[in-house]
Amino acid sequence: MPKVELHLHLDGAFTLDFLFDLIQKYDGDPEIKSIADLRNRFIFTDFPHFVETWFWKNRFFREPIDFEESVYRTLKELSFQNIVYLEAFFSPWDYKESGVVSTNIVQANLNAVKRAEKDFNIRCRLIVDITRDHGHEHAIDRLNEITPFLGEEIIGIGLGGSEQKYQTHMFEDVFDEAKRRGFHCVAHAGEVMGPKSIWSAIKDLKVERIGHGVRAIEDPELVEYLRIEQIPLEICVVSNIKTGIYSGFTDHPFAELFSKGLLLTVNSDDPTMFGTTLADEYSILYHELNLSMLEIRNVQINAVESSFAPQGEKKKIKEMMNRFWIDNAMSITND
Ligand code: HPA
Ligand code: ZN
Repeated sequence: MPKVELHLHLDGAFTLDFLFDLIQKYDGDPEIKSIADLRNRFIFTDFPHFVETWFWKNRFFREPIDFEESVYRTLKELSFQNIVYLEAFFSPWDYKESGVVSTNIVQANLNAVKRAEKDFNIRCRLIVDITRDHGHEHAIDRLNEITPFLGEEIIGIGLGGSEQKYQTHMFEDVFDEAKRRGFHCVAHAGEVMGPKSIWSAIKDLKVERIGHGVRAIEDPELVEYLRIEQIPLEICVVSNIKTGIYSGFTDHPFAELFSKGLLLTVNSDDPTMFGTTLADEYSILYHELNLSMLEIRNVQINAVESSFAPQGEKKKIKEMMNRFWIDNAMSITND
């Protein structure tokens, strides 16, 4: 099925093989002797443990070419999954320890995106994650650094990281300024923290989409607001379970939010770190959360409609999706 992904962090989507090679390139890690060891390193007790592991693996990205190669290979893998379009986050200020200049990371990722589009026919636009964990005091400096890159590929800013440590409203100034400069604005909210953080993302940051947003379910007034305004939620089911937000599929609110008429998309977040893929996420919607094929098709189209692609591009992607459903109608009705 042709797919669109709106919430994927390139920093969490490296291939295991590539990270393993990087670890060897930079003197190894005594605890990582095999790919299996590496896979086991990405099992998390909770969200803070996930963040700690995130910074551990970042130590092995030390030169711009490490980023360019990693992203190029990631996009190649994603194209094999029939992801035709994505809007991907990256966090260029998360590599202080390895000393790579943030603007060099931006350029390396841009190079990779352009090469991958040519070689694998996958279109990737980029959203720069301002990241809560670096605080809000210098967020405007980070915006200034990336502003010269705003263009065809770099289209927005996001706000990932530790929602529990740095509250959403603290970033109001930088989001206002980013919007004024022409950046699209999105934010993670309502993942670790509850509805208050989502209200703040909407009212203070004036975001166009919410990352996660699942804990909206705890506030009926917010659910109603999201339904009326049709603000897209970028839901990442496996991520929520792997970081302990929900204990399993039966607790996850995707199906309930969907049945209430919210505009939902499904995404893989940090696919390598969470051991998932976008294809897996769709499979979970069908097999575990009991969405019908028609509902799956709606979620698939929601991603196109909620993307920041120009209308012409959206139309082409929807045509591609429609062709898939027409070609496969027979086998699906036989299911
Ligand atoms: N939440 C917050 N920050 C993140 C995430 C996430 O799921 N993934 C990468 N950074
Ligand atoms: Zn995320």
